[in-house]
Amino acid sequence: MIDIDQYLKEKQAIVNQVIKSYLPQSGPPVIREAMCYSLEAGGKRLRPILTLAVADTIGFENNSVLDVACAIEMIHTYSLIHDDLPAMDDSDLRRGKPSCHRVYGDAMAILAGDGLLTLAFEVLARFGYRENNADKALRITAELAAASGVNGMIGGQVLDLEAEGNKLTLSELNDLSARKTGALLKASVLCGGIAADASSEQLEVLDVYATKLGTAFQIVDDLLDWESTAEDLGKPTGADQIRYKPTYPSVLGPEKAREYAEMLYEQAVVSIEGLNRSTNILEELAKRLIFRKK
Ligand code: IPE
Ligand code: IPE
Ligand code: MG
Ligand code: MG
Ligand code: MG
Repeated sequence: MIDIDQYLKEKQAIVNQVIKSYLPQSGPPVIREAMCYSLEAGGKRLRPILTLAVADTIGFENNSVLDVACAIEMIHTYSLIHDDLPAMDDSDLRRGKPSCHRVYGDAMAILAGDGLLTLAFEVLARFGYRENNADKALRITAELAAASGVNGMIGGQVLDLEAEGNKLTLSELNDLSARKTGALLKASVLCGGIAADASSEQLEVLDVYATKLGTAFQIVDDLLDWESTAEDLGKPTGADQIRYKPTYPSVLGPEKAREYAEMLYEQAVVSIEGLNRSTNILEELAKRLIFRKK
C-alpha cells in the first residue's frame, strides 16, 4: 500500500518546481507575472499527477514524462483563467486568490491564458526532440490538441455556456461534461501511458478508467459548488445556480449525483485491474478524486 498523502505531496512538489522552470525568462514582465500568478496560486495538480502516476504504474522511470505532465497543467490553468473571465463564468476567486483578471485585468488574463496554452505546446515540442521522443511527442501532441480543442474542452465550454438557463437531459449533461472536463482528464491519463510506452491493450484499459473518472470528477465539482463553502473550496460556491447552469445536482438531485459519482468510481477501480500491474496508486488517486473536499 502506498501512502497517498505522501505521494501527492511529493508529486505536487516536483510538478511545481519543474513547471516554474519553464516559465519564460524574457518578454514583458506583466504577462510573465500573470502566468506565474495563476500557475502558482495552488491548484491540486491532479492532472499532472495522474500522468505521472500512470507512468509509475506502467513502470517507466524517466523524468521526461514530467514535461508532458507540466504541459497538461499549463493547458488546464489557461482554461481556468479564461473560464473565470466576465464573458464566461465571471468568477472573482480562483485557487483561494482573486482570479487572474481581477488582478491583471481582462486583456492580460486573456493573454496569460494564451501564453500558457502556447507554452504547453512548446514544452511538448521540445520534449519531442530530446532522447528520441519524436514519435511519442507527436502522438501526445495530437492527443492533447484534440482533447483541448473544439471536439474536446473548448467544445464543452461552448455547450456549457449555451446551456445556461436551459434544461438538459442526463445524456446531454454527460456529453457536455465529457468534453468540458473529461477530455483533458482522459488525455492526462492516456498521455502518461503513451509517454511510458504502454501497450495498446493497456491504453484501452486506461481509456475506460479515465472516462469513468472524468465524469465522476465533474459530478464532484458540481456537488462542491452546490454544497461547499468558498473558504474551503478556494472558488465561489453556488455560482452554478446563480448562472442557471444545468449540473449533476440540478439534473439528478444531490443524493443521486453522489451515488452516480461513487458508482463510476467503483467501475473505474474494477476497470483498472485489467492493466496487469500493481494499480494501488491509480485506485487511491481515483478515491481521492471522488471523495475530495476541494
Ligand atoms: C476545476 O479543476 C475545473 C474543472 C475542470 C471542473 P480542479 O478542481 O482540478 O482545479 P485546480 O487545478 O485544483 O484548481
Ligand atoms: C470549468 O468548469 C471547465 C474548464 C475550465 C474547461 P467549471 O466552470 O465548472 O469549473 P469551476 O467550477 O469554475 O472550477
Ligand atoms: Mg465554467
Ligand atoms: Mg467556472
Ligand atoms: Mg464548477
